[in-house]
Amino acid sequence: MTATTMPTAPSSPRRIKIFDTTLRDGEQAPGCSMNLDEKLSVARQLETLGVDCIEAGFAVSSPGDFESVQAIANTVKSCAVASLARSVTKDIDAAYEALRGAEAPRIHLFIATSPVHMKHKLRMSPEAVLERTVEMVRYAKSRCPDVEFSAEDATRSDRAFLAQVLSAAIKAGATTVNVPDTVGYVTPEELAALVSYLKEAVEGSDEADFSLHCHDDLGMAVANTLAGVRAGATQVECTVNGIGERAGNAALEEVVMALKTRKDLFDCATGIDTTQIYRTSKLVYNVIGQAVPMNKSVVGANAFAHESGIHQHGVMAERSTYEIMSAEDIGLKQNNMVLGKHSGRHAFEGRLSELGYSFAPADAEVFFERFKEICDKKKAVTDSDIEAIVNNRVVEQPHHYRLENFHVHSGKEVTAVCVVTLGREKELVEAVSLGDGPVDAAYNAIGGLVSLPLCELEAYSINSTSDGTDSLGEVVVKLRCEGRLAIGHGLSTDVIEASILAYLNAVNKLLDSR
Ligand code: KIV
Ligand code: ZN
Repeated sequence: MTATTMPTAPSSPRRIKIFDTTLRDGEQAPGCSMNLDEKLSVARQLETLGVDCIEAGFAVSSPGDFESVQAIANTVKSCAVASLARSVTKDIDAAYEALRGAEAPRIHLFIATSPVHMKHKLRMSPEAVLERTVEMVRYAKSRCPDVEFSAEDATRSDRAFLAQVLSAAIKAGATTVNVPDTVGYVTPEELAALVSYLKEAVEGSDEADFSLHCHDDLGMAVANTLAGVRAGATQVECTVNGIGERAGNAALEEVVMALKTRKDLFDCATGIDTTQIYRTSKLVYNVIGQAVPMNKSVVGANAFAHESGIHQHGVMAERSTYEIMSAEDIGLKQNNMVLGKHSGRHAFEGRLSELGYSFAPADAEVFFERFKEICDKKKAVTDSDIEAIVNNRVVEQPHHYRLENFHVHSGKEVTAVCVVTLGREKELVEAVSLGDGPVDAAYNAIGGLVSLPLCELEAYSINSTSDGTDSLGEVVVKLRCEGRLAIGHGLSTDVIEASILAYLNAVNKLLDSR
């Protein structure tokens, strides 16, 4: 007798939730702080990207953090918004208060479960940690239906104790339990084994989302996250560009593109619109004042560049010889059409839309003005120039001081001298200064004009948006004054002007935050 085989419907891929913590764990890292407007623009972009949850901050930690969690909760509509809280009522109350306006609020509370943390940091016995977990998850649940519980330093905790704490958290009402590799210690095999064990040992593990949160101290955050997904995790916590405490967190773009590119292996799907990845990455780098490293996986300039002849030949014959994903997948549109001074508003706005930017009419007006200014100085305006125009607008601040004019004189064997004229409301102020080169002279002149105590220039970088001597120069400076750090951006075909604009942008931010 021959057996008849019934056709089986293809199983649909497992849905993995993306919990983004760029604005909390990411922003907590040195040199990555953002002001309220910057956080809001990143949050809006994360919503467009399609993350499931945005961790907006740690509401109790400072009035500024409270305000940003609140503003993001009131703005974001299509995904959950979380605030971090320690397992104490004061933190949970602050998180709840800040999240009141959110469509889908989530309180994310944590307590450490490893022997070293319990003994030296918490000075609590394991029994007391277990009791506090139950008490605080119940308390959070009485305020908010969506509660995530994290067992800090989970990967260095006693497995049986960890399972006991997570079981108790689920029983007390946690809808997500998170297993952080807080110090980036675990390896992929170990984490996969831990997740398999916990899925079995934790009571009610199928009723809650099982989450992972990996740090990159040994460069394994993404590999660990993916190994944990294969073992059954249903949520992953990551940050854009992998920014975060110390060596950072698992990079969102790498985790998502690995799941997509190796769907044959993972059979998982996310809600991420991958064509928004490049733009999101660029925005975050821009806001924190860092250039995209050339060799960064997925989003670096070299990620889709082929230098060697053998590779170029292979890609020309058949792209898949050396490319496992396409630039278009992450929203990098290859385009031969360039705009110039004869391009009208229609063509310019059309290109902005094609590049995926949505914009308010007032912003479109400003972008078009900048575009026309640039066309006067540069024959061909490329997509990178347009991106730089948009990104510069995002980080613009109110103008306490504006650049009216400058003259610079420098040369091989002369001391550089710069005259800078600034506008402040209706008044004009002018100073002249010498310096070690034209930028130094310009900054010395500005330093003498603005009403700020001595500022320290912590970093200065310059990048060109395209090839060619008429390329736009994008300058980023980090300026510290009275303990506060401001990141300034400037864009111009003239690199001295871009440098002055960046410095003034930082000065305006410092004055604003005073
Ligand atoms: O790394 C960590 O353990 C954390 C928790 C607070 C989730 O960031
Ligand atoms: Zn962390």
